[in-house]
Amino acid sequence: MIKEKVELLLNQQVTHELYSAQLYLSMSSWFSEKSLDGFAKWYYVQAYEEKAHAMIIYNYIIQAGGRALLEPIKAPPHEWDSVMDVLEETVKHEEFVTSLIYNIVDVARQEKDYKVDQFFQWFVNEQVEEEDNVNKNKGRYETMGKDGKALYLLDQELGARVYVAPPLLTTMEA
Ligand SMILES: [Fe+2]
Repeated sequence: MIKEKVELLLNQQVTHELYSAQLYLSMSSWFSEKSLDGFAKWYYVQAYEEKAHAMIIYNYIIQAGGRALLEPIKAPPHEWDSVMDVLEETVKHEEFVTSLIYNIVDVARQEKDYKVDQFFQWFVNEQVEEEDNVNKNKGRYETMGKDGKALYLLDQELGARVYVAPPLLTTMEA
């Protein structure tokens, strides 16, 4: 059985992941409006990934004999000052998500829920990748993205991203 304290945090995390999807879809739309279609695609794919994270945690709650008590998802911002503003907010948001994941692992250990501790190691590693990706996007924009031609190339490159379902989701959906 899943521990009550852990179940509550997992439920909250489903909502956090769905909010991440809302946030990134809103950012995607902002980029589309600016005709930065590659950035828009990157964020659109990211929104899908966040939904997949939510579904993975939802599935875990159900498999562990818990109940998914879904909460409202707050509205994301719709406007940002600049491309750099979006990239910086994305880095901040991913750092926040990492802190949430670490807290789940901390509480799971305190509650001796070693299954959740082990299960969430995938998310710990995923966050290393997420933070690396968004820091790279920001860094590359900073060093090469601002003049028109370089921005065009960066936009093209980001637009090549394709959605790949996370392995945990694939296993659970199979
Ligand atoms: Fe996520």
